[in-house]
Amino acid sequence: MGRWSRPLAREFVGWLEVPVSANWLDVGTGTGVVPEAVCDLSDPASVLGCDPSEAFVAAARERVPDPRFEVAVAGVGDLPRRERGYDAVVSCLALNFFPHPDAAVEEQLELTKPGGVIAACVWDYSGEMQFLRYFWDAATRVDPRAAELDEGQRFPLCTPDGLEKLFEEAGARSVRSAGIEVPTSFSDFDDYWRPFLGGTGPAPSFVATLSEQQRDALSADLRESLPEGEDGSIALVARAWAVAGRRA
Ligand SMILES: C[S@@+](CC[C@H](N)C(=O)[O-])C[C@H]1O[C@@H](n2cnc3c(N)ncnc32)[C@H](O)[C@@H]1O
Repeated sequence: MGRWSRPLAREFVGWLEVPVSANWLDVGTGTGVVPEAVCDLSDPASVLGCDPSEAFVAAARERVPDPRFEVAVAGVGDLPRRERGYDAVVSCLALNFFPHPDAAVEEQLELTKPGGVIAACVWDYSGEMQFLRYFWDAATRVDPRAAELDEGQRFPLCTPDGLEKLFEEAGARSVRSAGIEVPTSFSDFDDYWRPFLGGTGPAPSFVATLSEQQRDALSADLRESLPEGEDGSIALVARAWAVAGRRA
């Protein structure tokens, strides 16, 4: 997934149009792709990334050597405060993993300065996050148990209406949303399929539960359904929904 989150983070940060010299908080920073994009594109005064995982915090520290960047072990419910508030509080590909997204957005809004920006983006799991969509549609044909693991079913929040409603109910003003698409290209079928055989996450975990026969049936179904170019490459897009609002 890291292969695609970096270009997404850059598009997301650009879409926000936060003025230069802002103080940012990135919640669920992971390996720091958002702070990296903020430092590259937005000339911030500071960017604080936070994540409950010590391993991610260490990886982010290594990835972003910029002196304006700091990182802390912290998660929603205990987010780091800034005395005068942050100009921008953001999260990328994380909101749907928080135990209570409504409480998380309220907490993030409270940490934002009056007039400051609060924003999130999440994959369009039920629509045009194509490489996962192809996977779960084929997986469900092979084994109907797959339906309950499909992120498209598990994260109904990840739609423009769902996100806008969440932000508005938390008290954000001037709420807007947009689709952001990043190209996801695979050199051939193996390049697409291999990560499902050994990676982490719901899809590889599901593949690990299949018999050899079911696994072969799944890969045959995918070979059939994925759009393959003449040279064997597979060009897909991954769409994310971004949402942003302001603190009154
Ligand atoms: C899919 S990763 C996204 C990481 C990064 N923002 C990106 O765009 O690549 C989701 C992140 O959310 C973090 N996370 C999970 N639960 C969290 C919580 N309760 N509070 C803050 N972060 C959380 C995870 O540790 C993980 O780093």
